[in-house]
Amino acid sequence: MAAARWAGEGWVGEGRPGERRAGGRRASRRRAGGRGASGRKAGSLVVLAVALVGLGGCGEAPQGGEPGAQASQAAGAGAGEAGQVGQSAEPGSAAAGGEQATGNASDPAAGPTARDAPVILITGSTGGLGREVALEMGSTGAHVIIHGRNEERGREVVEAIEAEGIGSAEFIAADLASLDETRRLAEEVRSRVDRLDVLVNNAGVWLEADDGRVITDDGFEFHFQVNYLSHFLLTRELLPLIRASGSDARPARIVNVASTAQRPIDFDDVMMEEGYSDGRGYAQSKLAQILHAFDLAEALDGEPVLVLALHPATMMDTDMVLSRGAQARASVDEGREAVVNLITSPDVRSGQYFRGLTPTEAHDQAYDEEARERLRQLSLEWVG
Ligand SMILES: NC(=O)c1ccc[n+]([C@@H]2O[C@H](COP(=O)([O-])OP(=O)(O)OC[C@H]3O[C@@H](n4cnc5c(N)ncnc54)[C@H](OP(=O)(O)O)[C@@H]3O)[C@@H](O)[C@H]2O)c1
Repeated sequence: MAAARWAGEGWVGEGRPGERRAGGRRASRRRAGGRGASGRKAGSLVVLAVALVGLGGCGEAPQGGEPGAQASQAAGAGAGEAGQVGQSAEPGSAAAGGEQATGNASDPAAGPTARDAPVILITGSTGGLGREVALEMGSTGAHVIIHGRNEERGREVVEAIEAEGIGSAEFIAADLASLDETRRLAEEVRSRVDRLDVLVNNAGVWLEADDGRVITDDGFEFHFQVNYLSHFLLTRELLPLIRASGSDARPARIVNVASTAQRPIDFDDVMMEEGYSDGRGYAQSKLAQILHAFDLAEALDGEPVLVLALHPATMMDTDMVLSRGAQARASVDEGREAVVNLITSPDVRSGQYFRGLTPTEAHDQAYDEEARERLRQLSLEWVG
């Protein structure tokens, strides 16, 4: 049972979600019960009027972890000029496609829970870390959009959340190795919900060394597209909706699940035609996610949207690690707690990078304004 629930103005209860509770793991919880809160768009009826909480924070230094990890270099505080992120709407404007969080709290069809439920999209939540975060957030009363490729596993997570009778969930399948599918995912989200309070860019791959260098049908190095570029596109496509969902009191949030495995982007050979290794491909894509988060945080400075990145935990007991025959060094519970902290904590500032629960510094390249701008410009060209 979750120790916290969503109460319209924030998380209340014995502890915020993400705080460790005895017995921790929730995946096995099943309870008969009706459907929970619904952040779904139901014609024009269901309208939500909530976002998330607070600001604050500080910094410290990182270490390497996963295979392929390069210890991040300590660097100065993140800074830089405001970037152009290619949003299709102005700050504070209505969501794309005419969608808008209208906050029709008097609509009787919406019901009290529906009105209060924050809407959270977690990519890669059919398994591993994303699944655990989804279950946790569902148990607080949130409406969680589950995403991944595996429909069966996606449905299982939806059922687990709805069976608990507190939150609600729905599943959208999309392969992030395809830019078209990523665009379709964004369209689906926009058509199904009126608001998006939190986007967790979590889906990730780490190929086997034996796979060699894999190029997607769109022509990009596999890790780069799935882990970074598709999330760049998804975030860009959903940004108007996210911006329209945040308020000064309760800013919306974008959380990039990166890693301490960070390798600088070689702008002369981003797709790694030379010197590819699985570790390098993975680590380059993970640092790209941090550059993206810092760049977006700069661009959205002063707006009610917090952009954060983190290394959740080192070598968790998930498929990514176990399917390689590697030894797990952390429980997925540890990573879940770290991600949930960035979704719910009032003590975080936009533009921060965390290692677990601790704000820290990323690789030097993340603080290089020129590198961030270059990556942004290239990414805009690549996603069209
Ligand atoms: N495990 C660790 O120790 C560790 C450490 C640091 C950072 N991380 C990061 O944490 C995140 C989650 O990792 P995890 O350990 O939970 O991995 P995981 O158990 O392998 O789960 C990966 C998730 O991503 C989805 N996914 C994979 N490829 C996809 C694609 N092409 N399109 C759409 N969805 C896709 C998978 O769903 P489907 O199979 O249904 O598509 C699954 O839900 C990743 O970003 C990873 O880099 C993990």
